[in-house]
Amino acid sequence: MDEIILEKRQVNSILKSNLSLNTKKLYIESYGCQMNFSDSEIVASILDKNGYKTTRNLEESDLILLNTCSIREKAEFTVRNRLKSFKKLKKQNPKLIVGVLGCMAERMKESLLEEEKLVDLVVGPDAYRDLPNLLEEVEGGQKSVNVLLSREETYAEISPVRLDNKGVSGFISIMRGCDNMCSFCVVPFTRGRERSRSPLTIVAEARELYSQGYKEVTLLGQNVDSYRWNINKKGEKIDPNTSTTIFYELLEKVAHVANDLRVRFSTSHPKDMTNEVIHVIKKYKNICNYIHLPVQSGSSNILKKMNRGYTKEWYLNRIKAIREIIPDCAISTDIITGFCGETDKDFNETLDLMNKVKFDFSYMFFYSERPKTLAERKFTDDIPTEIKKSRLQKVIDLQKIHSIENNESSIGKIMEVLVEGTSKKSPLEYSGRNDENYKVVFPKENSKIGTYVNVKIERCTSATLIGKIV
Ligand code: 5AD
Ligand code: SF4
Repeated sequence: MDEIILEKRQVNSILKSNLSLNTKKLYIESYGCQMNFSDSEIVASILDKNGYKTTRNLEESDLILLNTCSIREKAEFTVRNRLKSFKKLKKQNPKLIVGVLGCMAERMKESLLEEEKLVDLVVGPDAYRDLPNLLEEVEGGQKSVNVLLSREETYAEISPVRLDNKGVSGFISIMRGCDNMCSFCVVPFTRGRERSRSPLTIVAEARELYSQGYKEVTLLGQNVDSYRWNINKKGEKIDPNTSTTIFYELLEKVAHVANDLRVRFSTSHPKDMTNEVIHVIKKYKNICNYIHLPVQSGSSNILKKMNRGYTKEWYLNRIKAIREIIPDCAISTDIITGFCGETDKDFNETLDLMNKVKFDFSYMFFYSERPKTLAERKFTDDIPTEIKKSRLQKVIDLQKIHSIENNESSIGKIMEVLVEGTSKKSPLEYSGRNDENYKVVFPKENSKIGTYVNVKIERCTSATLIGKIV
């Protein structure tokens, strides 16, 4: 009897402490790249231990965090407008805390806190562990900032709180920062120096996801080919008693977690992507036949000004190597139009490269000058916006032709698809992805989210393959 009473007391006290610990609600919104979405899951984990549970309902939140992107000017506008839209909520609830995380933090700390008084808290991508202290300062009536970048922080042992509730596909951050200094890019300034995370913790995270029912992991880094554990840039071992790991070896380690756990990765860099990586993709059925290999421009002149470290010919050679080793490997890219000094001839080189490669997908942008970057300091942003945009439209139109061609060649084929969730267009259909990362839509029948099904492709649009389970 005594024992039971004690148990009840214990349960009550646990419930009570949980209640007092977990009464606050965090609303977090992410902008930009997958890395930001992955970072938000780390932030949610840090705050979970400090009494915050995530909510999707803005109105009930005690803390709103925007994980921001600086890559193009437009991304910054979007965030500023979003912040302005919280003014009303703040009036209704004076205790509501609004914070800015991520890439905009460093650049905007003064203007966001002082001039516009839009936010209470500004935290850079390497300072998330400090969030509980910073929040305490804000609760004490101060504005709070930590935008220090680190050479070591990888949040290695933090187990992210997964914010995508489907439980099928998860991101694993394998490294942070970037040392490449592409002249157009702000990332080295907002995210700092490159550093890799321990392979043990990466594999442990993949195992954990698999044990929770996940069927796909995507290994994330700004340049995954630079992943290096216990080995310096010159190729020298750092700690003689520990083994070294480079990217293709890490891929193998993650592929061994489970045969039915798909492994993807992003982003590769054409100057660093080795044949070993391509061979490892070929060797393991569960490493997806898909490489995202941003080219940025097809003109060797422009590539030089972009400081990309390769020429058009080098890039085409990498594509040749991929196609020789894995003939059915899907390849996608990023393209920028209207970079400083881009002539019609340079631009035509980009169209020519696209025609030679016929990318499966492209992410296409017009150049947006970013503060502090090499391009801002060295070159004039001299291509008029209309020309940047008309070139972008040409690139988009050409990609559409290639996408339709690629999609049409899939009609009649049977492909294995991982079911991700209900299609946005019809509640009777599921949507999923094949190995090559093509979106496939099909009637649900008796299939289940998080399983693999074989789908026969019957028709397509430029963005989607449509078929039936066979
Ligand atoms: N302007 C336009 N696009 C950019 N990107 C990076 N910086 C800029 C910029 N200043 C694009 C590149 C990169 C992708 C993530 O964003 O194509 O690969
Ligand atoms: Fe930016 Fe270049 Fe680094 Fe990519 S590789 S994040 S484009 S600097």
